[in-house]
Amino acid sequence: MSIERTLVLIKPDGVARNLSGSILARIESKGYVLAELKKVNATRDLLEQHYEEHVGKPFYEPLVEFMLSGPVVAAIFEGHRVIEGFRSLAGTTDPTTAAPGTIRGDFGRDWGLAVQQNLVHGSDSADSAEREIKIWFGE
Ligand code: TYD
Ligand code: MG
Repeated sequence: MSIERTLVLIKPDGVARNLSGSILARIESKGYVLAELKKVNATRDLLEQHYEEHVGKPFYEPLVEFMLSGPVVAAIFEGHRVIEGFRSLAGTTDPTTAAPGTIRGDFGRDWGLAVQQNLVHGSDSADSAEREIKIWFGE
């Protein structure tokens, strides 16, 4: 049995709405273990690395601007199958239609902006997790 790690970000909307504790509590309640936690003012350079797969897409620039609009909370969670487990807990990308019971489905909605403000980020694969943890927490 292998213990995985994933990168979780609470985006500026989640921090500004004072939902950080509620979101972290859901992840812990599911049984995943908090390994690292910090509040960060991201830089454009860091976000360009983090979101490199989305360069050139119409939402890319609004996404980077949104992520620069306030502090984010960065966390590493650990556990068997935590990568897919957290993605399931987060819900689908569009918070309007994300299933009720998920973080995005319960706390988010479309505000009619150029970017989906959907409260959280979670790594989507083992390779992404390794890459993103290096970007946000170093080696
Ligand atoms: P993506 O990696 O596709 O979604 P997820 O966060 O579910 O892995 O996209 C990254 C972020 O970009 C997403 O959380 C919100 C924003 N985004 C939009 O604003 N509009 C879109 O159409 C998409 C696909 C993403
Ligand atoms: Mg993604």
